[in-house]
Amino acid sequence: MIVAPTPDNIDRAAQLLRAGQLVSFPTETVYGLGADATNAAAVRRIFAAKARPAAHPVIVHIADPGALPRWARAVPAAAQALAEAFWPGPLTLILPRRPEVDDIVTGGQDCVGLRVPGHSVAQALLASFAAIGGEGIAAPSANRFGGISATTAQHVADDFAGEVALILDGGPCHHGIESTIVAFTDGDAVLLRPGAVPLAELARVLGYEPKAVSAGAPRAPGSLETHYAPRTPARLVPSAEFAAALRQRVSPGAHIAVLAHSVAQPPFFEGAWFDAPARDTAYAQQLYANLRALDALAADEIWIEAPPDGPEWHAVRDRLRRATHSA
Ligand code: TXA
Ligand code: MG
Repeated sequence: MIVAPTPDNIDRAAQLLRAGQLVSFPTETVYGLGADATNAAAVRRIFAAKARPAAHPVIVHIADPGALPRWARAVPAAAQALAEAFWPGPLTLILPRRPEVDDIVTGGQDCVGLRVPGHSVAQALLASFAAIGGEGIAAPSANRFGGISATTAQHVADDFAGEVALILDGGPCHHGIESTIVAFTDGDAVLLRPGAVPLAELARVLGYEPKAVSAGAPRAPGSLETHYAPRTPARLVPSAEFAAALRQRVSPGAHIAVLAHSVAQPPFFEGAWFDAPARDTAYAQQLYANLRALDALAADEIWIEAPPDGPEWHAVRDRLRRATHSA
């Protein structure tokens, strides 16, 4: 059920979480599907609802960096510096876990993912939850496993009709793509997932650019080859080839739905044509809503104009590569 984030509804959501129910809440990145992180049975319900394999860990959302020692047994100085620079905000830190953190939260690994979200509703929920003894809210993105993330309350309702006790409606998410994930498991920072905090911003604080994930690093489903994917087969097509390729494909009568950001709709094209914003931040903010809307058309194929090469498009390129990866 979708409700406005009034103080009463936020308190109700906190109580439902304490009672072991699932609650969806907005963050500045995407909507989360939350459960009490200290209640293993409740966290297991997230996995059941998402149809997510148990080995994939979930992020614990905490109210402030002061709560880090409750979950992490070590906080390297560089991790502390990132927390100070970007929290509350769209950054997740992977740190060595304390032994009492449940295996269902960490996917059985020796590390735990932590984030202080910046969205006012998420913060109010964490405060209300803390007031009744809650310590952290475990929450993956509120979408079916491998599917398109949710950036509105309605997206969450579309994916989880009966399984969520309450959906707090905070409007469309500000960033529209997930947090940047940085792991500190042995030594230097490692980038597990590009996201709303750009790499250059991390480098400014760390003094070096974290290397991208390599074999042996902690598992992250966001690093699966296929993820964020529409059900309709989707492909990336370079801008320069777009119109010519479309003309060839349209003539055999295929029903194609297009997500463009710089290419103009050719006069011969009669399918669905979405003009996404040409600016990276606005493009990202609307990306999942666009993918969901394109998918709902049940076209034969979705064609996505390949995003530009610049560093500001890094996270969007990552999402689109996985969304269009066919196994
Ligand atoms: O922006 C976000 O991060 C959103 C909002 C709701 O906070 N959450 C999100 O959760 O994107 P999810 O589960 O869809 O993606 C989190 C990623 C997963 O790839 C997961 O494997 C990784 O974080 N992760 C979480 N805990 C981890 C851990 N202990 N070790 C390695 N990776 C971890
Ligand atoms: Mg996700």
